[in-house]
Amino acid sequence: MVVRLTDLRKDFGSRAALGGISLEIRAGESVAVMGPSGCGKSTLLNMVSGLDRPSGGSVVVGGEDLGALDEKGLALFRRRRIGMVFQFFNLLDDLPALDNIALAGRLNGMTVRQARKRAEELMDGLEIADRRDVHPASLSGGERQRVAVARALMNRPALLLADEPTGALDSRSGDAVVELLTELNHLGQTLVLVTHDPRLAARCASRVVEMADGRISGEHVADRGVGRGTERAR
Ligand SMILES: Nc1ncnc2c1ncn2[C@@H]1O[C@H](COP(=O)(O)OP(=O)(O)OP(=O)(O)O)[C@@H](O)[C@H]1O
Ligand SMILES: [Mg+2]
Repeated sequence: MVVRLTDLRKDFGSRAALGGISLEIRAGESVAVMGPSGCGKSTLLNMVSGLDRPSGGSVVVGGEDLGALDEKGLALFRRRRIGMVFQFFNLLDDLPALDNIALAGRLNGMTVRQARKRAEELMDGLEIADRRDVHPASLSGGERQRVAVARALMNRPALLLADEPTGALDSRSGDAVVELLTELNHLGQTLVLVTHDPRLAARCASRVVEMADGRISGEHVADRGVGRGTERAR
């Protein structure tokens, strides 16, 4: 089991953003979390990634009980075990693409050489090798998101988390990111994806978890591949 959430709760003041979530995610699964704005999707990801602490319940990721870690332990956990991709990329504007990616490895103890080598391999694999010296401001949205995915994969995370990864992209670059995430999952990467887009969920996820009001309101096996053929044929 890569993720085990048990009766997870998060309050902001008197408001319960998460009202008791229990969920297990196995290695190799791709889980889409869906639900209306404000239902707690990002809060849930922040708990799984150790960016924020729960008010109650427990989060175990890769066998590690996050409640038992201090701040330093959580920071290490995030760096080593988790890759994150966000709607607005969160790249560093002052660094060219390659260094944005390599930095994640440097922060995790790689030498400059090791980090650059791995970053180059990832850029190759994501077909953005020719953008290595370009700064984020001069990249397209789709290219920025691929740089962000490469950065997230730098330390071979047990778990890749993505919060609306196609939310800021036009449909073509969005589709490319969808393809990429799907491929990564087929290669064995465990993936948790927050999205408003049912098409993205259908294509990327093996399981869809529906949230409403800080709780899981439903769950179903995704209809994988539906729409794929027709998209391709267009
Ligand atoms: N840091 C915070 N302080 C106070 N309230 C917060 C904080 N973060 C989230 N909330 C509240 O918790 C609830 C869940 O927010 P969350 O961001 O998880 O929703 P979401 O499902 O990701 O929504 P969206 O689809 O719009 O991104 C909302 O009511 C939000 O206002
Ligand atoms: Mg959100």
